[in-house]
Amino acid sequence: MKQRLESMLQEARSAFENAGSESELQETRVRYLGKKGELTGIMKGMGALTPEEKPVVGATANLVKEELESLFQARNEDVRRAEIADRLARERIDVTLPGRSSFRGSKHPVTLVTEEIAEIFTSLGFGIEEGPEVEKDFYNFEALNIPRDHPARDMQDTFYISEDVVLRTHTSPVQIRTMMRHAPPVRVIAPGTVYRRDSDITHSPMFHQIEGFLVDRHVTFGDLKGILTAFINQYFGREVGVRFRPSFFPFTEPSAEVDIQCVICRGAGCRVCKNSGWLEILGSGMIDPEVFRSVNYDPQIYSGFAFGMGLERIAMLKYGVNDLRLFFENDLRFLQQF
Ligand code: PHE
Repeated sequence: MKQRLESMLQEARSAFENAGSESELQETRVRYLGKKGELTGIMKGMGALTPEEKPVVGATANLVKEELESLFQARNEDVRRAEIADRLARERIDVTLPGRSSFRGSKHPVTLVTEEIAEIFTSLGFGIEEGPEVEKDFYNFEALNIPRDHPARDMQDTFYISEDVVLRTHTSPVQIRTMMRHAPPVRVIAPGTVYRRDSDITHSPMFHQIEGFLVDRHVTFGDLKGILTAFINQYFGREVGVRFRPSFFPFTEPSAEVDIQCVICRGAGCRVCKNSGWLEILGSGMIDPEVFRSVNYDPQIYSGFAFGMGLERIAMLKYGVNDLRLFFENDLRFLQQF
């Protein structure tokens, strides 16, 4: 039996020596040291030994077992190192390859348009004001000469928070807030988010406007035309035609809507301008004396004009975007073009 043990040890030595991978090593270990392995197989014969032989063979078996264990450990360590060295040699990192660049953020087109327009008006001496999006009925309607029974207050158009509180439907309440805080002269623009219960291809329940107004002594409709024409010339180009069309707003009198020549067809007529050759871009007018009374400005001394425009609409015309919804989807492929 002792001999069988020794010859098995010989055999196992070379088996461990030849095992080239971790899995081969494991197999070899199981073959010799496993529960159903060679060593166990030989030890089953112990019962047939004499009492004198037993301790001798037992001691040898223990030694053989220990040697097999430590053979395994040593080879295992070698094989692991070799495998690591091999992988390191194969998976070389080329530090000279260019890196993967990360996305750069860009400004939303509505932000761009807001900034471009603000730039033009600040260069004309206008300041910038802001007001709350959740607004009191008084500022959004009442003080702007829109009484309780005015159709513009229809539940269809306005989001009501409570009977007296609404989501502002335009940026005009900032006129009231500003005039209540500052004595004339004032010239201010007010960009911001507004809300209306309106949702289809050309209307979004949340959109953006920029308001502007100027109040001083002796301000005339000629000033309104002059400032707005200067703005349009600078923003859309001198060659673009401008026209003022009579209109109505409760807070301005007289009122005018301003059209520019269609930026797509240059006035020839196309789908975008519905064959009229013109595109409406803003509402405006001389501030109504009723509005001055509600902010305690004396309409005998002061006059002024105001205007408001939708920024998504301006962005569509300026950047040739044909679908309003693109502004709110935040698809990077769209946004990265600006
Ligand atoms: N507030 C108006 C609107 O939302 C626009 C406007 C502003 C008209 C100022 C005249 C003067 O349609």
